[in-house]
Amino acid sequence: MSKNDFFTYQAQTSTHPLALEVSHAKGSYIYDQDGNAHLDFVAGVSACSLGHSHPKVVDAVKAQVDRYMHVMVYGEYVQKPAVEFSKLLAAHLPDNLNTTYLVNSGTEAMEGAIKLARRHTGRSQVIAAKNAYHGNTMGSLSLMGLEERKSAFRPLIPDIRSIQFNAEEEIETITEKTAAVVLETIQGGAGFILPKNGYLEKIRRRCDEVGALLILDEIQPGFGRTGKLFAFEHFNCAPDILVIGKGMASGLPVGAFVASHELMTDLTENPKFGHITTFGGNPVIAAASLATLKEITETDLIPQTLEKEKLFRKLLQHPLIKEIRGKGLMLAPIMENKEIADYLVLEAAKKGLILFWLLFEPKAVRISPPLTISMKEIEKGCDQILGILNSYKSDTVN
Ligand SMILES: Cc1ncc(COP(=O)(O)O)c(C=O)c1O
Repeated sequence: MSKNDFFTYQAQTSTHPLALEVSHAKGSYIYDQDGNAHLDFVAGVSACSLGHSHPKVVDAVKAQVDRYMHVMVYGEYVQKPAVEFSKLLAAHLPDNLNTTYLVNSGTEAMEGAIKLARRHTGRSQVIAAKNAYHGNTMGSLSLMGLEERKSAFRPLIPDIRSIQFNAEEEIETITEKTAAVVLETIQGGAGFILPKNGYLEKIRRRCDEVGALLILDEIQPGFGRTGKLFAFEHFNCAPDILVIGKGMASGLPVGAFVASHELMTDLTENPKFGHITTFGGNPVIAAASLATLKEITETDLIPQTLEKEKLFRKLLQHPLIKEIRGKGLMLAPIMENKEIADYLVLEAAKKGLILFWLLFEPKAVRISPPLTISMKEIEKGCDQILGILNSYKSDTVN
């Protein structure tokens, strides 16, 4: 296989992929075909929560592969990994979030959540935030808060409205016509923006007043990344439907939406099969999810996340870093301009440090390492970042 084959035979998402040629990965490192180690500050975009090939996840996957893999479409057979995962998850969530629908990806989970909200309320309007990212299938794309990325695919699903995240004066536009308000608990692609001044609590109150459902997208901040198992725990606001994925299986494709048993039965009848999927709840992936959830909740990884955040904030002080947004291990140093952000990501790639961009904030650099990253690895990577920023000369970059 040559790198050229990648460009020739595999569809591309952009004209400028990083194109690292991966040999293997372990812990906080990805190794390339030439044997170079790359320190991973991105974790597959927040997906590899326990780092690469965590032994407990690998063991769970191997044991399950030896027992059985796919046996039936979602929901027909009783399969222990999916049941045990759903039960353990419910034990860690507020009482109303007790029933989990397992699917294949974050975007499919969002599709399921939108369908459930429309079916339950009998209303069609869905309100999402500007600069939101909820996935790339037609429903999730319809919620995307950036017109230039979606206009080419119109017509999308109708009756979607947008509000500015954190803008209290727009909360009143949520009305009796609204089926659901969909928000990322912490906005990801927009630049790791936290809700402020009790914003989520106010949204929650308004949804209750008008009978709209609140859907929180925790695909990125969920599973311990922000110093709580789920980020909504920081903001005194629980959703009616919780949407999760990414770090849930520590590196295998997954998604789920969680709601009350009463709400979920709306997908079971009238019409029956309100949402169906072949591979959702796949036993191998559910086994990885269960091992991941146990590891995150039975160790001190979650409190450590906040200690690691402190270290990042202490070390990443440089005149070119204007602020650091985010929480826990979901951090975004904001540069003065896009050129500096690009320089940092691309120079880091040459020097064996993996950084990445955020979708809609060109001045931001993504830092979302595995939760298992060590203090030493953080120090090493931050040292490299500071060295690269010291070498930045505005006239050397075009
Ligand atoms: C907040 C958020 N929602 C939804 C998604 C979509 O998840 P997936 O790529 O698994 O479909 C992502 C992925 O980046 C995300 O960050």
